[in-house]
Amino acid sequence: MSITAILAFSGLSSLPAHADGGNMSPASSDSPALSQVRAHYLVGCGGCHGITGISASDVVPDLKEQAGYFLCSPKGREYMIHLPNVAFSPLSSADLADLMNYVAFGLGGNSVPVGARPYTTAEVARLRQAPFRNYSLQSYRLDVVRDVIHACPQAATVIHAYDLALDKREIDNK
Ligand code: HEC
Repeated sequence: MSITAILAFSGLSSLPAHADGGNMSPASSDSPALSQVRAHYLVGCGGCHGITGISASDVVPDLKEQAGYFLCSPKGREYMIHLPNVAFSPLSSADLADLMNYVAFGLGGNSVPVGARPYTTAEVARLRQAPFRNYSLQSYRLDVVRDVIHACPQAATVIHAYDLALDKREIDNK
């Protein structure tokens, strides 16, 4: 799907929840069932992370079958909401909680640890007030990843792929 098609979906976010799309011409044949949360994802995140949660894995970490791992530890859980692209999202905290539950439980698929709780509106409202600003997002991520892997060792291979690609780029650029 092209970026133009993704942007065309943005109009959906202002529709009432019960709209069936009958009075509009959908941008593509698979759009009538497109939920609001998916529209929010496509507009706000999909340009970087890809429609299905996979894009340029070396530059943007995959979310598909991975994002759920961050729910393995409190630090990982907070990390996902502290990310500037998430914390500064124009969405309300209720919509952002829905979006992050879609990202973690929907796109994250089997990476979600047993017994993980969904994000609540109150939790998201609190966490998004402390976005990262002051130090390297990369070193913060490494710290979080170490913590998450400690709780869920099976996460190691997949969530480290992004760090390895970063390291390689730094070496190549020297
Ligand atoms: C401009 C591109 C861009 C946009 C837009 C963007 N992200 Fe990201 N996202 C990234 C990058 C780059 C990282 C890696 C951050 C780091 O180095 O810690 C990331 C990390 C993440 C992670 C953690 C995954 C990991 O393995 O570290 C999640 C979850 C996430 N983004 C969700 C979202 C959501 C939800 C949105 C939309 C509200 C969004 N992102 C919008 C580029 C983007």
